[in-house]
Amino acid sequence: MSPGLPHGFSRDEGGRALLGAQRLQDLLDRGLETPAYVYDLDGMADAARRLGAAFGDAPHLVAYAVKANTAGPVVRALVAAGCGCDVVSGGELEVALGAGASPEQVVMSGVAKRDDELDRAIAAGSRGILAVQLESVEEIARVAARAATAGRRVRVSVRVNPGVEVDTHAHVATGHDEAKFGVALADLADALTTVDAHPSLELAGLSCHVGSQLMAPEGWLLAAERLCDAALASEARRGRLAFLDFGGGFGIDYGGSSPQEPAAFARAGLSLLREKGLAGRTLVVEPGRALVAAFGVLLARVIQTKRASDPDRGGAGAGGRRWLLLDAGMNDLVRPALYQAKHRIEPLAGPTPAAGPGAARFRVVGPVCESSDDFGEHLLPEPAPSAVAIRDAGAYGFTMASEYNGRGLAAEVFLRAGEPASVIRSRDAGAWARARLAAPEPLAPRAAPR
Ligand code: LLP
Repeated sequence: MSPGLPHGFSRDEGGRALLGAQRLQDLLDRGLETPAYVYDLDGMADAARRLGAAFGDAPHLVAYAVKANTAGPVVRALVAAGCGCDVVSGGELEVALGAGASPEQVVMSGVAKRDDELDRAIAAGSRGILAVQLESVEEIARVAARAATAGRRVRVSVRVNPGVEVDTHAHVATGHDEAKFGVALADLADALTTVDAHPSLELAGLSCHVGSQLMAPEGWLLAAERLCDAALASEARRGRLAFLDFGGGFGIDYGGSSPQEPAAFARAGLSLLREKGLAGRTLVVEPGRALVAAFGVLLARVIQTKRASDPDRGGAGAGGRRWLLLDAGMNDLVRPALYQAKHRIEPLAGPTPAAGPGAARFRVVGPVCESSDDFGEHLLPEPAPSAVAIRDAGAYGFTMASEYNGRGLAAEVFLRAGEPASVIRSRDAGAWARARLAAPEPLAPRAAPR
């Protein structure tokens, strides 16, 4: 952490909520519309630099998984802090390159890459991106044909499905036998021979990614070990690999857990490479969440409170549930609805008091017409605050947002020490409606390239 500068969410001496050095209430007092994501770019850059430093002199690439947060200022800050990018679509590839990432520092994953997305990856820079990560034997001939058409030799890696179960939410476990991702270990030899047979492909590495929100390196390392064994077998038959990519998935503390630092994963990965006699191959990691989640909050205003009386506890006005109705909902932050994730929700003016007088348990919900639009039960001041911060929303928040219920995407605010806060505004209701009312164009093929 840079000396003297707080990163992420904290409180000042008066108990007021800060993100980085910025008082969050001040943003609202200055008229910031809500819901609004607020990002501490210095905190993100600092996290990236700390992870990079954990590799010491060993060749490495921290390929930031752009899917976690695609905002230009975020990706630019991480690239300037030394990151490359892991991208999974043509859109993410354009953002990575536009934010200054060198094609040499970009890998592209994805089970179903479109031809136009492959073409862009192959055309980037003087020899394409660092690697197109192949996720099936079937994909190989298609990538080879696109490269041949472009008159280029494209570097590829095979993303291996290592058959490892990790302890995380089923929706974000990707390295087990039933997952759609990667080439099964049993099919790897076939995949590699197929790559060898195509002169337009050059095998640069092997990759894997077992899942997200991992608390400790064990499962990640087990997959990495299988990848190393596969690399040794491959190197015995063909050339030395340029890199091994152990994937991302480094977990963060959403409250009440103590994940190991990303640096611990990096050090464990480097030791494994040494043990296996593979030192000198570039170690690629693909963290998304760990670089950005804790450095973002979703600010929401409280629309009103609501009390539902409990007929079993004395009728009207008695007992019952207290609701806190926010102007942010599941369309802005879907993680609670999709993964039963619980994000800490905190008042801005002063800390949440301990349970007792001056505090109440509220069921915090959004405006969307679905019962799953529910951020869970939270202890908050009584009377209820006028605005709250939903913490750890810098990853998989805005990028998973939708316009469901006719709600424009949230605003995004970018904070950087020594610079004025800047904002990408939300579309207001009128602009949103005009876009939906716009006359469709006559159907005709889109001019290439997309
Ligand atoms: N590499 C690959 C190939 C991935 O599929 C992912 C995430 C990452 C890297 C980055 O994982 P991270 O370091 O961020 O855990 N929306 C979910 C997370 C989905 C992760 C999908 N893949 C959530 O909000 O928890």
